[in-house]
Amino acid sequence: MLNFEEDITAGNPTLQPQLRSLDLDPAPGEIPAAAVNLLRAQEQDAEKFRRVRMEDKRIINATADVNQLVPFKYKWAWEKYIAACANHWMPQEVNMNRDIATWKSPNGLTEDERRVIKRNLGFFVTADSLAANNIVLGTYRQITAPECRQYLLRQAFEEAIHTHAYQYIVESLGLDEGEIFNAYHEVPSIRAKDEFLLPFIDVLSNPNFKTGTPETDQAFLKSLIAFACIMEGLFFYVGFVQILAMGRQNKMTGAAEQYQYILRDESMHCNFGIDMINQLKMENPHLWTPQFREELKGMFLKAVELEYAYAEDTMPRGVLGLNAPMFKEYLRFIANRRATQIGLDELFPGATNPFPWMAEMIDLKKEKNFFETRVIEYQTGGALSWD
Ligand SMILES: [Fe+2]
Ligand SMILES: [Fe+2]
Repeated sequence: MLNFEEDITAGNPTLQPQLRSLDLDPAPGEIPAAAVNLLRAQEQDAEKFRRVRMEDKRIINATADVNQLVPFKYKWAWEKYIAACANHWMPQEVNMNRDIATWKSPNGLTEDERRVIKRNLGFFVTADSLAANNIVLGTYRQITAPECRQYLLRQAFEEAIHTHAYQYIVESLGLDEGEIFNAYHEVPSIRAKDEFLLPFIDVLSNPNFKTGTPETDQAFLKSLIAFACIMEGLFFYVGFVQILAMGRQNKMTGAAEQYQYILRDESMHCNFGIDMINQLKMENPHLWTPQFREELKGMFLKAVELEYAYAEDTMPRGVLGLNAPMFKEYLRFIANRRATQIGLDELFPGATNPFPWMAEMIDLKKEKNFFETRVIEYQTGGALSWD
């Protein structure tokens, strides 16, 4: 602060010659306006170029420079980035020959099994593109924690790998690309899930959207929850269970292996999103109002309804030892888990997991060679923990 009792040039060697150059001759006891302005500008520069301090970092609305990764504050985000890189994989490394033979053989699969595969791909070939759009056009712009930005860049690339994987399966099996890639326009149970999500992308991808008010911060937080907890944490799971159940029966093992890698990536996306949501909540407790929590509850209930409708549509009859009613319980179980992970109450008290083997599917190390196909150990460093 400027103290008007003191000589403003004292102890400020850069200001003294500049004042001389202004050729000022203030009356005794009077501070020339030009000198005051100069000093203020210097103070502002000092603030602008001050070194980043850990305590200045925040998930959103930080004043700290977003380009300085260190000093680390959000180590969990950096660690997830390292773990994600260690899990790198590419779709074309997975051999699809057996799947192609099974698909082409008239007796390779039942009609209901073929329907499951086509509906699965119909949802997923565009879903990961929506997830990628949400990151690069929306979320990334608002996040001011560089550690989280670093993870989001890796996540965006993983979404591209997932879209690639689904395309690779469609191409390998020689499916009707027009039918599969247009399913999100043409299949109502898929369209309904995407329509639920699109408003949450639209709000963030509006170029004028900016966090910084309680309203926009809540809108942002809601979008994070829609994507991490609902899209990646719930809308993927009927599809994942179906294809992985197929792999457990030794059918379509190449596709199942790819889904297993994708499931591992998505579990981390979901966990990263939840960590970011909880950190954002901690830094901005005023956003977590009773009304906001009610809105979130409504969102979860609607999502469970939509995913259940998708389960019914993909399985009009029992298939692969699965049927739609089993998914009612599973979706309730997952919704409870996601809700409690972000500090909401259980939505369906007492729901249990009818597919405990899914937890093992997430951890590739435990179930290596499960499908008796070539499973590459992609882990090159850094231990993963799935909780
Ligand atoms: Fe993905
Ligand atoms: Fe994802």
